[in-house]
Amino acid sequence: MSIDNQNNGYFPTARLRRLRYHPGVRRLTRDTILAPDRFIHPLFVRPGEGIRTPIDAMPGQFQLSIDELVKEVKEIEKRGVGGVMLFGIPEVKDAVGSDAMSDDGIVAQAIRALRDVVSKEFLVIADVCFCEYTDHGHCGVMQKCGRCGDEWDVDNDATLANLVKQTLVQARAGVDMVAPSGMMDGMIAAIRKGFDDNGFERLPIMSYSAKYASAFYGPFREAAESAPQFGDRRSYQMAPDSAPGQALREIALDVEEGADIVMVKPALPYLDIIRMAKDQFPGLPLAAYNVSGEYSMTKAAAANGWIDEKRVVLETLTSIQRAGATIIITYWAKDVAEWLS
Ligand code: PBG
Repeated sequence: MSIDNQNNGYFPTARLRRLRYHPGVRRLTRDTILAPDRFIHPLFVRPGEGIRTPIDAMPGQFQLSIDELVKEVKEIEKRGVGGVMLFGIPEVKDAVGSDAMSDDGIVAQAIRALRDVVSKEFLVIADVCFCEYTDHGHCGVMQKCGRCGDEWDVDNDATLANLVKQTLVQARAGVDMVAPSGMMDGMIAAIRKGFDDNGFERLPIMSYSAKYASAFYGPFREAAESAPQFGDRRSYQMAPDSAPGQALREIALDVEEGADIVMVKPALPYLDIIRMAKDQFPGLPLAAYNVSGEYSMTKAAAANGWIDEKRVVLETLTSIQRAGATIIITYWAKDVAEWLS
């Protein structure tokens, strides 16, 4: 029998189960430890009062009016979650998403309301995109294009100007960080310049840098009432079967443009991309979005008694962190903070 030095000896000398018999040893050798204060809870806010509308496809999640949002956020903060990310469902949608660019828009109001009730430690983050605010459900201003000039698509550069307006509204309302999710070229540079020119040079940007055109966003589009009325998002979000290096190019560009934190989204089908990003940019804070479809699938299986929700969720989030994401955006943030306390 030969001794395999690279494996540090061989059985019976090497018995890896010695690390597993005693619970104290198992605890000591843990490596990926979930930290709820690095979780962000997404929330959906809409006009009105006393509204807490359950989202069918996302059991346990709600569309909330601002008064209900305030209660929810207080509870989320109390449990030790790091912050919330706001998505707005406006009273009125139009072609450009005016509500998002108004100081009286739903998210601006929500940010101001939350500023009064959360501590300085707690982060109020706003998603930056137009799909919830436009009547067509696309992520920006539409223009005619295509080979015959008769197809509609998002006008990249016209959308940039509106993204600057949207983020300045959020900044003036007192947001702690913005998270642009529209996958427009140049969006980070435009927003960064808008901030720097207007005295918000300290405000960080978390970019949805590598965001895929994913079927896993289905339940979110019900929650945010943001499904595209025609077409799809494939001319701006990345193709699942594109070269993994394209995600790295997106991240590198965002960093050059001034992104402070980058994100990979969705999380589970793209754990390889998370790991690549972590290896390529070790000093860059990396977030992952555990999206609506990932949430709904687990909820559905758990509701049928097919899996143990708590264990599956903890294992899932551990896998996302182990892949390299230290910041996790998840609809389970509130529950997990409770489970881990
Ligand atoms: C807005 C946006 C979406 C999600 C986050 N920001 C939807 C989309 O791109 O269609 C999805 C989040 C989720 O599925 O939980 N662009």
